[in-house]
Amino acid sequence: MGLNLAQKIIRDHLAEGELRPGREIALRIDQTLTHDAMGTMTLLQFEAMDIPRVKTRLSLCYVDHSMMQAGFQNADDHMFLQTMAARYGLLFSRPGNGICHQVHLERFSEPGETLLGSDSHTPTCGAVGMLAIGAGGLDVAVAMAGGPYYLKMPSVVQVILKGKLLPWVASKDLILDLLRRLGVKGGLGRIFEFAGEGVETLTVPQRATVCNMGTELGATTSLFPSDQMVHSFLRAQGREGAWKPLSADPDAGYDESIELDLSSLEPLMACPSSPDEVVPVREVEGIAVDQVCVGSCTNSSYIDLMTVAAILKGKRVHPAVSFTVTPGSRQVLQMISEAGALTDLIAAGARILECSCGPCNGTGQAPATGAVSVRSFNRNFPGRSGTTPDQVYLCSPQVAAAIAVTGRVTDPRRLGDAPRTELPELFAADDGMILRPPENSEQVEIRRGPNIKPLPRSTAPAESLRAPVLLKTGDNVSTDDIIPAGAKLGPLRSNVPASAEYVFERIDSSFPTRAKEAGAGIVVGGWNYGQGSSREHAALVPAYLGVKAVLAKSFARIHQSNLINVCILPLTFADEADYDRIEQGDLLEMVGARDRVAAGSDLVIVNVTKGIEIPVRHALTPRQVEVYRAGGMLNYFRGKAPA
Ligand code: F3S
Repeated sequence: MGLNLAQKIIRDHLAEGELRPGREIALRIDQTLTHDAMGTMTLLQFEAMDIPRVKTRLSLCYVDHSMMQAGFQNADDHMFLQTMAARYGLLFSRPGNGICHQVHLERFSEPGETLLGSDSHTPTCGAVGMLAIGAGGLDVAVAMAGGPYYLKMPSVVQVILKGKLLPWVASKDLILDLLRRLGVKGGLGRIFEFAGEGVETLTVPQRATVCNMGTELGATTSLFPSDQMVHSFLRAQGREGAWKPLSADPDAGYDESIELDLSSLEPLMACPSSPDEVVPVREVEGIAVDQVCVGSCTNSSYIDLMTVAAILKGKRVHPAVSFTVTPGSRQVLQMISEAGALTDLIAAGARILECSCGPCNGTGQAPATGAVSVRSFNRNFPGRSGTTPDQVYLCSPQVAAAIAVTGRVTDPRRLGDAPRTELPELFAADDGMILRPPENSEQVEIRRGPNIKPLPRSTAPAESLRAPVLLKTGDNVSTDDIIPAGAKLGPLRSNVPASAEYVFERIDSSFPTRAKEAGAGIVVGGWNYGQGSSREHAALVPAYLGVKAVLAKSFARIHQSNLINVCILPLTFADEADYDRIEQGDLLEMVGARDRVAAGSDLVIVNVTKGIEIPVRHALTPRQVEVYRAGGMLNYFRGKAPA
């Protein structure tokens, strides 16, 4: 039996292990990316490894998240990142150049290569046949230092696309349909590989939307073959030399298969407050809308904005609606300007924002109290917009534009003929805002403002675990719930002690105080604990507050790795019904926890308060056990770094 595309790229980068689902493998990493929200910590971790220069073929640091300079903090971080990039051999994408995933797709994506990014939407580059995976910042730092990336070999799901999208239906509707069918846990431990006759009808930006939001399925990554569509895209970017054909073998095997007829899709919408709460737009028509935002790494491409501008041309944004447009990159902004589409958007009443993440992570444009916000983004977890509670709907740019005009949820098919927009023959390729490291990089002075605090160091775990349950949560707790993003906390990303004051702020604002008083603690969670952003602060900062273990029904992939990397033990219930036998405040004890984890023995937590025993499990690989026993990845990797 032949290999599918994911298996081929993994085989070509395999440093350890074998291609059997569930077994740990190690991948050689060609490229890495990080950004300002994770990058300060990632680069501090890299610095702590004492490696003089990155060892990857290409590593980039983008500034796209924390753009507001309401104080010195973000500016400090940007300057630190710029000088660290120059010192250690990374390319630096300056503030204003665009969102990391959009710029990376345009300027650096390469079929057949591996990309590890400290951002959960790194799979966006799967649109060109690249194996692009999101990870915690420490894993990215290790890759920059030349170490492999470890993960459990995912199963590969073939998504067979048939037919062609109808007018007014977007590739966003394709991924929303998958979310409707599979849910936010439907991709855990899986790679989604797209195949079938429908693939060739989708442009690279359309594919990028699908790969980007495959993250919301919980997938390890998503990818498309590198075909003529990819060739045209890379040629138009002036990067034809990066292209090579790549596809699955004709007799490739897959672990699962799904069929999806593109021509059966209709405009869809995810309702508050989860990306899988998907319904046809026609079922929620008429809801009054206060805010519409187009942008984010999901839908801010040239084609997306040209389409929105074509819908708005000659019309006015509804007076009840605040309508924002965020171009994904400077390339997009320049091209919609040259095409006259920017003028059309301005004339219609759009508020044009800087090329950055912006409203997507709550950095500006937080909706008014009680307001309905419709966004072309990828996530609508509660409070992510910056307003609590919020009512955020997710949809395609086409649907968003229709709503901006009517002021109500509207099926865009009511607007008559769909606009036709084409990919350009040539994109505006100007890398002038990407700084390359100098030859004499060892002479670069690192500028470390007062906002850059020292990296907290973890120590090896104690032999036994005895601590109270500091918090018991429900299902699908996101990293946004653990440590929020947004304008308020963005400036504190390089300051763990200050960030610690906001841990679980949305669930229980007394958590930091209680954690400090207890000195050590345990968090109990439901299903899919730690979904969403790859934000390692959601592990790092609780570790700083003394969290020693998280006991949950299940974990999201990246968060589980992040917990182990900072020496928090992730445990699952052997019997999920035992979740109900623990309450917040209970004292839990696991005698000999450290050695029992290492020995693979049966694990039992004693609920001292209730006088009962609760069998638990861990899913740490032998390597992860060593990471845990060493007190986290940084301690483990130091001394093991390749020469
Ligand atoms: Fe930025 Fe939102 Fe994407 S925060 S990287 S635009 S998911």
